[in-house]
Amino acid sequence: MQNLKGLRIVGTGHYVPDNVVTNDDLSKIVDTNDEWITSRTGIKRRHHVIAEKNQDMAIAAAKMALENAGIDKSELGVCICATVRADNLTPSMACMVQKILELPNNIPCFDINAACSGFMYGVQAARGMLLQSDKKYGLVIGSETLSKVLDMTDRSTCILFGDGAGAAVIELTDDNRFFSVLGSKGDDVVLNIPNHNGERYVNMLGSDVFKFAVSTVPKTMFELLDMAELTADDIDLFVCHQANMRIIESVAKKCKQNLDKFYINLHEYGNTSSASIPIALSELNEKGMLKPGMKIICVGFGGGLTWGGAYIEW
Ligand code: COA
Repeated sequence: MQNLKGLRIVGTGHYVPDNVVTNDDLSKIVDTNDEWITSRTGIKRRHHVIAEKNQDMAIAAAKMALENAGIDKSELGVCICATVRADNLTPSMACMVQKILELPNNIPCFDINAACSGFMYGVQAARGMLLQSDKKYGLVIGSETLSKVLDMTDRSTCILFGDGAGAAVIELTDDNRFFSVLGSKGDDVVLNIPNHNGERYVNMLGSDVFKFAVSTVPKTMFELLDMAELTADDIDLFVCHQANMRIIESVAKKCKQNLDKFYINLHEYGNTSSASIPIALSELNEKGMLKPGMKIICVGFGGGLTWGGAYIEW
């Protein structure tokens, strides 16, 4: 059993399908246009699966994260996959990652559903499990095929979401401080994806989700800053859930921070739900933009309603 309080991310990975769907492509299907989508959301493109299963993306992202971490797989103590739409009711996506990547057989592997906050929930859940384990590392994945649950005749939702997967290998440590805030407020009206009576599409009260996000994300950030005894000015990088550019702009304003401290890739991928934060971290890592000692705040929000954030030191 470990007695370490901090956490660090030692490896990252991501995968997005090759198939790109542009705003112009969508304007041929529904009554919309590039100007409307760009100005209201910031999204220009998203990637949708054609042949890939959700688990294929999760496995690809996890493989990249493990290679990036360069760890011995036998030292993994847990594998968690966050998703709202696993390929099977059972086995879980995490168990399929375990099988295909030949992770150790004696560790817990399971999926969680906290919608777009799922990766943040996964990191904290993995941390809790590692504290009870004598293994060093945890693998946390966010992987989503939301294109499968989009009503492509509903212009208010089909423009927003994309598919993809991101993953991180975490390690408990005392050198890198870590704080986490998770919350939920049960609500099936503002945002839902039903799975009964033949219903299976995203339903959303867009402006209510917007209001929820622009109040919850800064609140979560300020709670994390209090825990870390820091101010927003001390933070090097903010990685928010990539749902809407206007939400991120509002958050930056409320935190009195320049927008260039916020990583943004939603123009390329749209909202990839639980995958959005780990995809962003993996891209940042790949581009060499994460330096040792950097102070990072990540915050997600979404269906449930849920929210989750973490203060991380790179
Ligand atoms: N193209 C063109 N017009 C569209 C459109 C589209 N894709 N989608 C909606 N519209 C129209 C609406 O029908 C409405 O027309 P009307 O005034 O004639 O009724 C008008 O645009 C304004 O719609 P509204 O919903 O008020 O727009 P908005 O400025 O609130 O933007 C969202 C809509 C969805 C972009 C915005 O509310 C949002 O991003 N919310 C958060 C959603 C989110 O992040 N969800 C995931 C959370 S994890």
